Amino acid sequence: MKILVTGGLGFIGSHTVVELQNAGFDVVVIDNLSNASIEVLDGITNITQKTPEFEKLDLRDKLKVQEFFQEHQDIDGVIHFAASKAVGESVENPLLYYENNINTLVYILQELAKKKNANFIFSSSCTVYGQADELPITEDAPVKPAASPYGNTKQVGEEIIRDVCKVCDDLKAISLRYFNPVGAHPSAEIGELPIGVPQNLVPFITQTGVGMREQLSVFGDDYPTPDGTCVRDYIHVVDLAKAHVVALQRLLQNKNESNYEIFNVGTGTGSSVMEVINSFEKVSGQKLNYKIAPRRAGDVIEAYANTGKANNKLGWKAVSTLDEAMASAWKWEQKIRKK
Ligand code: WQD
Repeated sequence: MKILVTGGLGFIGSHTVVELQNAGFDVVVIDNLSNASIEVLDGITNITQKTPEFEKLDLRDKLKVQEFFQEHQDIDGVIHFAASKAVGESVENPLLYYENNINTLVYILQELAKKKNANFIFSSSCTVYGQADELPITEDAPVKPAASPYGNTKQVGEEIIRDVCKVCDDLKAISLRYFNPVGAHPSAEIGELPIGVPQNLVPFITQTGVGMREQLSVFGDDYPTPDGTCVRDYIHVVDLAKAHVVALQRLLQNKNESNYEIFNVGTGTGSSVMEVINSFEKVSGQKLNYKIAPRRAGDVIEAYANTGKANNKLGWKAVSTLDEAMASAWKWEQKIRKK
């Protein structure tokens, strides 16, 4: 079985390529290298001893996408990660996000709509829920008006897939709504490689730990949560990667209950910013330099998944603890800063 992974040299994509290869799939990676390094291919190979087929291709080029699918008629499934994902950048440059996240999705779906028995996994996000009214969050929680163009591209992306699946009986699709992916492969051969100043909490923590950043700013400690800091569902990226393999196998084995399904992918446990800091200090054995700063605009107070549907229907459950995820992130950070 041959699987196309778009954005397959990115953070979640590369970890998913490893798990696909471990499960016996042949993998073709497309990446335009705008937010990933070609060296990630070596990292994948060092883990699995198998180098995925790779094509540097920008999915915004419709003709190139058409040519690719012409040349690769033997693709049995597509996992689509390729997208821009910086919330703040999307506010400043919405058209970049609508072109890169929506046009590319449409071009891929246009190719899959031509195939008999196409299988598609979409990288979505818990950001579609905004601040959910009820916690933990279930898949039927209302989708809230997006707080950013990035979040809107995930909402619109899901709606596009839903509408296409309604008219394409031969297309089966699953959207996976990620909570907060963190950590790195235990081998430290692949991990998160943020460009510039990290926007996300965990890479900022580990970069502070290695001395790349002076001090972490904790964006608010006056929220209505147990310790006043925001709560998120931090899921180890390897657990997240494995969820993609299980979801794909569900489609390939025709175990899906409808031709478009949505699953939350999280641990089901919420952790506060302070709990993440404490976890880092525990696994690294060093104090973290941080200060309390003003709240960050757009932050939701609490978000963590009800994982019952993924547990029961996908037969998948996250197994790594926050400490294990933080230890893997720290091991990776120390390794890449030694180069
Ligand atoms: C987590 C918590 C911050 C940085 C975003 C996207 C989501 C997904 C994951 C792509 C919040 C606090 C952060 C810092 C801090 N991205 N924080 N100091 O915002 O939950 O989700 O990234 O799919 O779609 O929305 O993750 O890691 O940015 O923030 O205090 O320097 O850490 O306020 O409470 P977030 P995050």
